Amino acid sequence: MKAVRIHEFGGPEVLKYEDVPEPQPGTGEIRIRIIAAGVNPMDWKIRKGLVGEMPLPMTMGLDVAGVVDVGQGGAIFQPGEEVFAKVSMGQGGYAEYTVVNSMQVAKKPRSIGFIESAAIPTAGLAAWQSLFDIAGLKKGQSVLIHGAAGGVGSFAVQFAKWKGAYVIGTASGKNEQFLKSIGADEFIDYKNQRFEDVAGNLDVVLDTIGGDTFERSWRVLKPGGFLVSTVASIPEGGPEKYGVRAKTLMTRSDGEELAQIANVIDEQQVKPVVTTVLPLSEAQKAHEMSESRHTRGKIVLRVAEDPQ
Ligand SMILES: NC(=O)c1ccc[n+]([C@@H]2O[C@H](COP(=O)([O-])OP(=O)(O)OC[C@H]3O[C@@H](n4cnc5c(N)ncnc54)[C@H](OP(=O)(O)O)[C@@H]3O)[C@@H](O)[C@H]2O)c1
Repeated sequence: MKAVRIHEFGGPEVLKYEDVPEPQPGTGEIRIRIIAAGVNPMDWKIRKGLVGEMPLPMTMGLDVAGVVDVGQGGAIFQPGEEVFAKVSMGQGGYAEYTVVNSMQVAKKPRSIGFIESAAIPTAGLAAWQSLFDIAGLKKGQSVLIHGAAGGVGSFAVQFAKWKGAYVIGTASGKNEQFLKSIGADEFIDYKNQRFEDVAGNLDVVLDTIGGDTFERSWRVLKPGGFLVSTVASIPEGGPEKYGVRAKTLMTRSDGEELAQIANVIDEQQVKPVVTTVLPLSEAQKAHEMSESRHTRGKIVLRVAEDPQ
C-alpha cells in the first residue's frame, strides 16, 4: 500500500510517499481502509523530533476516516462500516490502511463525508475534553478561546456555543467574520488589542497558543475559574496564586466521545471546518502549511475516492 513515512526526523522533506506492507490487525483491532486523513500540528512536531525519540521508520498521521476492512474487534464494528478514529502514534493515518483498537473507533457522522470526518478526531476530542471533561463548561458560563480560528479553536467555539456558553474568540482581523459565522459572540483581534483589556471575570479560558498568551490568561478568570492549555505546562503554585484551577490537556483517544461528537454534528449543531484538501502524496505541502501556524480550520489529505 502507499503510505507517508519518515525514516529520520527533520524538515518536510523527510516525509516519504512510498510502498509499505499492509498492516495486519491483532486481537481487539480492526483494519480500516482509509479514505481521508486529518493533519495536526502534532504531526510536524513528531516529524521534527520535538515529541521525543520513536522507532523509525514511522508512518505519520493520527486522524482517519474510512471503511472497516477486516473486523476483529468482537461485534463492535463490521466490515463495510463507515468509521473515524484517532489512532495511536506510529500506527499511521497517512496511509491506505491502518489498524486500530476498536475502543478508539466510532461510526462516522452520517450527515458529512469522509473528508470532514477525518478533520474531527484530534482537534474535536481536544476541544471537547478541554471544555467539558476538564473545565466542566456549563450553559450560561463564559469562555475565552485563544486560537479560535484554528483546528482546535474552530471546534471549541462551536461546542461552547452548542452548550449555551458566552463565547469570546481571539484571532487576527482576517478571521473576524469567520469566527462570528461559527458562533463567537465576541471577537478579539490579538494583533491590535490586548485581550485582558477587553475581557475579564471569565469562567473558562482555553489556550491553544501558549507563551505570553498563556501567561496573561490567569488574570482574566474569575475566582475559581479554569485555565486549560493544549500547549503550556502549569507552573507550580500558579493556580493558588491566582485563586483559579488549571490543567494541561493530554488528549485521549476515545471512541465513545467521538460518537458523542458525531451525534452533535448530525444534529447540525457543529460542522468541521475544512479549508484545504490535498492528495496523500502532498503531505509535505500540508505540513508546510500547518507549520505556518496561521491556517484556518483543518487541512485534510485525500487518500482514496469517496465511495459514496
Ligand atoms: N495537548 C494536546 O493533547 C493537544 C491536542 C490538540 C492540539 N494540541 C496543540 O494545540 C495547538 C493548537 O492546535 P490547532 O490544531 O488548533 O493548531 P492550528 O490549527 O495550526 O492553529 C492555527 C490558528 O492559530 C491562530 N493563532 C496563531 N497565533 C495566534 C495568537 N497569538 N493568538 C490567537 N490565535 C493565534 C491562527 O489564527 P490567525 O491566522 O488569525 O493568527 C490560526 O487560525 C498546537 O500546538 C497543537 O499541537 C495539543
